[in-house]
Amino acid sequence: MANNSNQILYCLLGNKIKNSISAIIHNSFFQSNNLEGFYTTFNVNSPDLNTILDTLCKLNFRGANVTTPHKIDIIQYLDSLDSLANLVNAVNTILYDNEKLIGYNTDVEGFMTPLHKKIQRFDDKKVVVLGSGGASHAVLYGLINVNCKEIIILNRTLDNAKQLVSQLNSDVSISCDKLNQQNINSLSNVDILVNTIPLHKTNTILNFNSNLGIKLAYDLEYFPKETNFTKQMKSLNADLIYGYEMLLAQAKLSFQIWTGILPSDDSINGKILSVLGD
Ligand SMILES: NC(=O)c1ccc[n+]([C@@H]2O[C@H](COP(=O)([O-])OP(=O)(O)OC[C@H]3O[C@@H](n4cnc5c(N)ncnc54)[C@H](OP(=O)(O)O)[C@@H]3O)[C@@H](O)[C@H]2O)c1
Repeated sequence: MANNSNQILYCLLGNKIKNSISAIIHNSFFQSNNLEGFYTTFNVNSPDLNTILDTLCKLNFRGANVTTPHKIDIIQYLDSLDSLANLVNAVNTILYDNEKLIGYNTDVEGFMTPLHKKIQRFDDKKVVVLGSGGASHAVLYGLINVNCKEIIILNRTLDNAKQLVSQLNSDVSISCDKLNQQNINSLSNVDILVNTIPLHKTNTILNFNSNLGIKLAYDLEYFPKETNFTKQMKSLNADLIYGYEMLLAQAKLSFQIWTGILPSDDSINGKILSVLGD
């Protein structure tokens, strides 16, 4: 899609984002809502974040999404944070308004929206979260907020998980362990299994068997739509939430922050699935 000088600039700031579909989603939202906006993606290295934000301000951009690995680093260059972004200490959405850069986090609600469609009560749910990176932080914040009964985090680097747990201020029972096959095999009665690790992309194979009793599996990895993880969960007859569902939910909330309009799913679901492969 080509832009023209009437169009207001929006973008994604990240690194290694060649598979991102955010531009497809947001440009489709602009079109279906008859708005003059143009969304593009910029691969940025951390030391260049300040310079690119300066340039975007000079171009009078309106908003940006922020993704791996800049969600925390970007905070130092912003003028203020909304209360949720401040609590989670991560920003995935920037609004440029009145010459001020304001940081928001739509990942938490974006993660919870598809989950709320499947589950009403969380206080009797045991949740296992794979990974303790940036996305896991938003996931845990959302799960703590709905008072899950128990959360277990499994991560390759145990110290990273321990550090994350130490930052969480909660009455929910949260424990962490090293991610390995033995610790996976020792799980039982798993109500919800959330994967925040790029397992498919890194070709990492983990085996989950029916003894784990997984009822619902949620894969944050969204490219392709069917990952090795979702295929495995299907074979265990677990209910599924796909990564693109969170991607779409957080994108809609970002779009609302920038434009005041919460877009509908009507035209976009088919477009997303045709790119990700159904
Ligand atoms: N659907 C959505 O809307 C959405 C939103 C955000 C993120 N995501 C997806 O979530 C995933 C994680 O993103 P992120 O921002 O959290 O990344 P991140 O901050 O880099 O964290 C990556 C996590 O994966 C673990 N990991 C990476 N490679 C691994 C491997 N080969 N084996 C085992 N563990 C490995 C890391 O463990 P260590 O601590 O040991 O390094 C860490 O816990 C990505 O696939 C991203 O696309 C999706």
